[in-house]
Amino acid sequence: MSEITVITSGKGGAGKSTVTAGLGYALSQHSGRVLLIDADAGLRSLDLMLGVGGTTMYDLADVFAGNCEPVRAIYPSPVFQNVFVLPAPIRLEDMCTPQEMRSLCRGLAAYYDQVIIDCPAGLGHGFDTAVAAADRALVVSTPDMVCARDAQILGHLLEEKHLRTHLIINRLRPAKVMDGSMPDVDEIIDTAGIQLLGIIPEDEEVAVANANGRPLPSACNAAVCFGNIARRFLGDSVPLARLEKM
Ligand SMILES: Nc1ncnc2c1ncn2[C@@H]1O[C@H](COP(=O)(O)OP(=O)(O)OP(=O)(O)O)[C@@H](O)[C@H]1O
Ligand SMILES: [Mg+2]
Repeated sequence: MSEITVITSGKGGAGKSTVTAGLGYALSQHSGRVLLIDADAGLRSLDLMLGVGGTTMYDLADVFAGNCEPVRAIYPSPVFQNVFVLPAPIRLEDMCTPQEMRSLCRGLAAYYDQVIIDCPAGLGHGFDTAVAAADRALVVSTPDMVCARDAQILGHLLEEKHLRTHLIINRLRPAKVMDGSMPDVDEIIDTAGIQLLGIIPEDEEVAVANANGRPLPSACNAAVCFGNIARRFLGDSVPLARLEKM
């Protein structure tokens, strides 16, 4: 059975969906079929990022309402080879319970090499539901102290739930760190209190790829970082890139 990973953040907009899509794509190039589950009911975004926006008929709510078998609500991305997406309910109130999410994901995990769940921001029912199925968690933080402190709170909650948890720092601007106008990586890690898995720089290619529902160009900074994060995620030892090379 594949591993089930949840991508979380305390603050909205930290980059959870971007990391779900970018890591999902990078993992598909190393470890086969990857299922991305959008658990952000009411504010879904993975369907657009994966290039299936506007073409989907069923979503998580339909699976639990008995309108379709799970397989009918899972769509292969036309542009991210070997990546599949299960869209979130359109309405927040149609989200399933944590127990339902757990049993669905455990069943689906037999058919994919990796399952990644995109969590809504913050805490509450959406967080509890997305986390219920997971074996491990990635907490996404931008390089600011407020976001890092929220990451620390999430880290404690995830630890209580016995999830193996790592930190991803997203939207780092190396030049700003080097000139001292943004906190450095060690400060963020110390505040979050979570072991670092990797760093993704601010990269305009990310916004372009997300907006057009296509993968990042393979040579761009963010794509190289996602590739390294995927290898570390799978257990390889890959050194962090130096800031000036990012
Ligand atoms: N490394 C990056 N470089 C440039 N833009 C980025 C980067 N990461 C994310 N973005 C942009 O930031 C915005 C928010 O990203 P995203 O939707 O992934 O965040 P989120 O945490 O999923 O948000 P929400 O909490 O609303 O679900 C998007 O417009 C995305 O394109
Ligand atoms: Mg999101």
